[in-house]
Amino acid sequence: MALARVTVLASGRGSNLAALIAAAERAAGPWAVTHVVCNRPGARALVVATEHGIATTLVDHTTYASRADFDAALATAIDRGEPDLVVLAGFMRVLGDAFVARYAGRMLNIHPSLLPAYPGLHTHRRALADGVTEHGCTVHAVSAAVDGGAIVDQARVPVLPGDDEATLAARVLEAEHRLLPSAVTRWCIARARSLPPEAGR
Ligand code: GAR
Repeated sequence: MALARVTVLASGRGSNLAALIAAAERAAGPWAVTHVVCNRPGARALVVATEHGIATTLVDHTTYASRADFDAALATAIDRGEPDLVVLAGFMRVLGDAFVARYAGRMLNIHPSLLPAYPGLHTHRRALADGVTEHGCTVHAVSAAVDGGAIVDQARVPVLPGDDEATLAARVLEAEHRLLPSAVTRWCIARARSLPPEAGR
């Protein structure tokens, strides 16, 4: 099976990136994280990638005059890595319509809520404030609407008595670390099945 090249976009801690790398190494295919693109200098995600010998590119959003300029630089960086799939794993920038259209059908995002509930920020705080008994995370295709693309898969976790934002976030994050690699594996297997037999030889 042709190894799918996955480029991960991250902004911070990089725990989902680490989970992806670990899963790809454990399963030895059908995909590998081949490039990590980050918009924040000093982000832990850059360290995680470097520790695993994965190429990194920094596209610092603060150095661009407009979102369009940033998106264009981001696309140039991504395309240099020739990815089959782009995964947003804690990438905290809103992307413009042209950028989203360029990667249509080959860009996934992980979001820490059961979408369509709680798009945007502070999902755990809002879930606790509403008194919900169940929370979780979603992998979805990226569309022009923020956190609004087609849902690929979800994982549910209970909200327990005494939970605060930190305990709930930690429980959801654990679920994210399982959900995202499994969604990426399924995407890559589906892609491989749709390729002509000679592809990747
Ligand atoms: C994760 O919880 C991810 O779901 C969230 O940021 C965190 C990144 O953590 N993403 C979003 O909120 C995107 N809307 P990580 O850097 O440790 O993977």
